[in-house]
Amino acid sequence: MKTKALINLLSDRRIHSGASLATQLGVSRTAIWKQIRRAQGRGYRIETLKGRGYRLEDHVDLLDAERIRASLPGSLQESIDLRVLESVDSTNAEVARYRAGHSDDPGAGAVMVCLADTQTAGRGRRGRAWLSPPGENLYMSMGLTLRGGFTALEGLSLVIGVAVAEALERLGLRNVGLKWPNDLQHEGRKLAGILVELQGELEGVVQVVAGVGLNVHMREAAGVDQPWTSLSQAQEKTPWRRNDIAAELTSSVLAAVDEFAVNGFEAFRDRWQQRDVFYGHSLRAVQGEMEGIGRGIDASGHYQIETEQGIQTVRAGEVSMRVMS
Ligand code: BTN
Repeated sequence: MKTKALINLLSDRRIHSGASLATQLGVSRTAIWKQIRRAQGRGYRIETLKGRGYRLEDHVDLLDAERIRASLPGSLQESIDLRVLESVDSTNAEVARYRAGHSDDPGAGAVMVCLADTQTAGRGRRGRAWLSPPGENLYMSMGLTLRGGFTALEGLSLVIGVAVAEALERLGLRNVGLKWPNDLQHEGRKLAGILVELQGELEGVVQVVAGVGLNVHMREAAGVDQPWTSLSQAQEKTPWRRNDIAAELTSSVLAAVDEFAVNGFEAFRDRWQQRDVFYGHSLRAVQGEMEGIGRGIDASGHYQIETEQGIQTVRAGEVSMRVMS
């Protein structure tokens, strides 16, 4: 029996007796008890009510590859290699491993899209960990191929930020903000992060793994040291479903990357700018020791700060920026 089958039964968050779970899954009550322990070990919060049964404490809607595939546009149903896992160390690492094992023909074949219900070693930018509780958020990675050498990558992570923001807006989220270089925010709180990792380059063909972590149902996040939110907190009444969101994000990101490969970053500059949370605010570029007013991005996606010495630009990866209070 897989954890998934058990969690699916518990996902109505009602109390289920061990006996009824055992009957529905065709196993013994002892097997149910063991599986409950295993699920708890994976991070699912399941309450045991003495003499009554078990109850799932958090809102969980499990990923389902068939549902995601059915919600994708027909053209993508054929052209992506979709993998949905219960648990993995990191979806970015999984895509990189898979591609490293199939590196004979870089750039050919279906785009690999990998999602997992939980990550045991989710990675954030700047070597940070990415909290990945099971069943609550979206953790997805795509194996992308771009031509034109490393310069072809300039602006890519901002393009993905625009694509994720537009996907969420199509799903009904209002007031989505982009915090340079590529965090998504809602009312000043982090909603999603993007991690683009370079995998290799051969004769101008560059392979990258683009990962998106999006908070969907999360209500508690022990140890997160910055203001954060989730779709459910931002807009409680919207019925957020991870499978629908996964499909919308996949088609939005892949369409944006295709457009970027043909037309470059220029087509995305305004779309990014409209959502810039720094624009017009007093900023401090940490490490760059620069202070001034946020003036948006230039044609390559570098951030511009109006300082006493004039406009100065900062590159992603060089500095991090804070709004000064
Ligand atoms: C950030 O620090 O803001 C970037 C977070 C990126 C997290 C996502 S979750 C899916 C993918 N797999 C990972 O290990 N990281 C990215």
